[in-house]
Amino acid sequence: MNPPALLKKRLVIVAGKGGVGKSTVAAAFALSASRQGKRVLVAEVHGAERMSHFFEVAPIGPNIREIRPNLFAVNVQPRDAMREYALMVLRLKALYNLVFENRLVRYFLDAFPGLNELVMLGKIWYHVEEIDKKTGRPRWDLVVVDAPATGHGVFFLEFPKVVLAAIQGGPLAFHVAMMQEMLTDPRRTSLQIVTLPEEMPVREALDLRRVVHDELKIPLGYVFVNCVNPPLFNQRELEDYRLLLELTDARLPRLKRLFEAAQWRISRWRIEEEHLALIRRSLNLPRVELPFVYEREFRARAIEFLAQKMADQMGLAG
Ligand SMILES: Nc1ncnc2c1ncn2[C@@H]1O[C@H](COP(=O)(O)OP(=O)(O)OP(=O)(O)O)[C@@H](O)[C@H]1O
Ligand SMILES: [Mg+2]
Repeated sequence: MNPPALLKKRLVIVAGKGGVGKSTVAAAFALSASRQGKRVLVAEVHGAERMSHFFEVAPIGPNIREIRPNLFAVNVQPRDAMREYALMVLRLKALYNLVFENRLVRYFLDAFPGLNELVMLGKIWYHVEEIDKKTGRPRWDLVVVDAPATGHGVFFLEFPKVVLAAIQGGPLAFHVAMMQEMLTDPRRTSLQIVTLPEEMPVREALDLRRVVHDELKIPLGYVFVNCVNPPLFNQRELEDYRLLLELTDARLPRLKRLFEAAQWRISRWRIEEEHLALIRRSLNLPRVELPFVYEREFRARAIEFLAQKMADQMGLAG
């Protein structure tokens, strides 16, 4: 995919295994896009929001807030999304309170499988389609979704298909069909896979690719390989290092630890290279590699640094 093409999408979903850096990639990408003059909404949909930590701002709740110029954030919780949806449909607050805040009704709603996913996806769909009343244009150029970890995340994206297979006709099927149309529309939507140069995350990324692409027909964008340790030495330096090792090892035992550290780093890099090669061969997606950031605190500076790395590799102006 050529990079500005990703900026022309309306919905960019960031997905992957738990803890690989989905929120990090979503934050850095949203920041890059906002710096390109796009009006960006970054939506977290999995509970614990990370954006306030990453951007060093007050906690983000269900109300959309601007956290950087052109960059807005919202934390989508099922209960709030359901409330909004119900209020839109029922239009009467008192009726909503009577029905949805009823403990017994809540109990049944919570037990309804997939309902939470559905209302959250519904809210995302609403924002993708949202029109700014003043300008008559879409309110958001780009909605970036920080998806729940894989497993749960696939279920979240799978849900429209499951519902459509089960019910035909009626307003629910109608809404869900529109969500499905949005998810599978290559002009509007692109899903990014985040992974690490390690065995399990790569395996999971391959699984995710299969489900998203082959089964759900959701268009894929990039693979983001996070926490890459760039090689310590180039070929020439590696030869010098070996020579030095031979010459000094026996004579300067105090250097032994230093050589061991270098050796460890070289071995680690070789392993990462193998996983990167597998990603190149099997995922067959344009790739962005993000370095491991050695900062005591992983916050705004780290996100800005990664946004720049991303912009460089994607050909964005940073
Ligand atoms: N490139 C990096 N360099 C160093 N540390 C990183 C990097 N990317 C992520 N981290 C660390 O890993 C933590 C987890 O990242 P992040 O929250 O983005 O993962 P996630 O995939 O969203 O996790 P979850 O599945 O829990 O939502 C970050 O808070 C940060 O401390
Ligand atoms: Mg996350």
